Amino acid sequence: MEDFLSRLRELEESGSAAIRAASAPDELEQVRVQILGRKARLTQLLRGVRELPQAQRPQAGAEANRVKDSLIALFDQRAAELTQGPEERAPQVDLTLPGRGRWRGARHPCTLVTDEICDIFKELGFVRARGPEAESTWYNFTALNTPLDHPAADEQDTFYLADDIVLRTHTSPVQARVMQEWQPPVRIVVPGLVYRRDPYDASHAPAFEQIEGLAVDEGISFVDFKASISYFVHRFFGEDTATRFRPSFFPFTEPSAEVDVSCLLCHGEGCSACKGTGWLEIMGAGMVDPAVFDNVGYDSERYTGFAFGMGVGRIAMLRYRIPDIRLLYESDVRFLQQFERA
Ligand code: PHE
Repeated sequence: MEDFLSRLRELEESGSAAIRAASAPDELEQVRVQILGRKARLTQLLRGVRELPQAQRPQAGAEANRVKDSLIALFDQRAAELTQGPEERAPQVDLTLPGRGRWRGARHPCTLVTDEICDIFKELGFVRARGPEAESTWYNFTALNTPLDHPAADEQDTFYLADDIVLRTHTSPVQARVMQEWQPPVRIVVPGLVYRRDPYDASHAPAFEQIEGLAVDEGISFVDFKASISYFVHRFFGEDTATRFRPSFFPFTEPSAEVDVSCLLCHGEGCSACKGTGWLEIMGAGMVDPAVFDNVGYDSERYTGFAFGMGVGRIAMLRYRIPDIRLLYESDVRFLQQFERA
């Protein structure tokens, strides 16, 4: 009996080692035939159980079967390992990969900013108006008190489509169009594309979006102008943003101003974004020049108003800290995806 059990144990050890050592399916099959086959050692040992004394047979048989089962299990496990390819042996799903969400599109940052600006002015009673991008020189220049031989027209001498038709250089001509059509009170915001012979660089584009604003009524004063613009700045950039009106010149406003806001990054201390000044320019503006009212048939003794114009791309750059205006026009999905709203 002792002899039987020790031979069994020896077979278990050497058999296990041989199974583990097999490095290919056919090698493993040879091992299987040697150990578990009909003429194999284990089979012979099992047959030998019958020759043991009656009383020892149950224990000897049970132990022999245990060894047989464990070798078969080991064999199956090794067989499975050897038939799998290396990629199947590795975990099949790489949990570190980003999910493959499908991009369903989003609104462009300029559209987001346009909507937000128009919504803020809507709170002040402004409605949206639109005008053509191919515009007559009369609306683009003359009506706005800018004679064609004036240097201010030179600066915007731009894409002529015909003798007196240009791609508009600003949204201001829509002021004149709306005033010809409607009597005061007028409060409009005018989003739209404009075109200039500008270089295409980090801060310029030859086609870009503007938003124009115009308010005309009896008794509108410079205070209304400053209060309305400041209201917008607080709503759009935040309550702690300061507004500054710097004297400037436009042929169609008098007085004219460039509007600055305190730098959003350094809050006025001076940094690279504001070139050390503490201020960022956001728009041109002013009180409507009476000559413009005369040109569109408004009574310039009775009505006053203010107007402003801002570049939407510039505002979007400030809002989203975009370093280069060209990113707005290059349709790079990786850039645009960032503006997706839930
Ligand atoms: N039209 C001007 C421009 O494009 C901006 C402006 C609009 C200035 C309205 C004053 C009033 O630069």
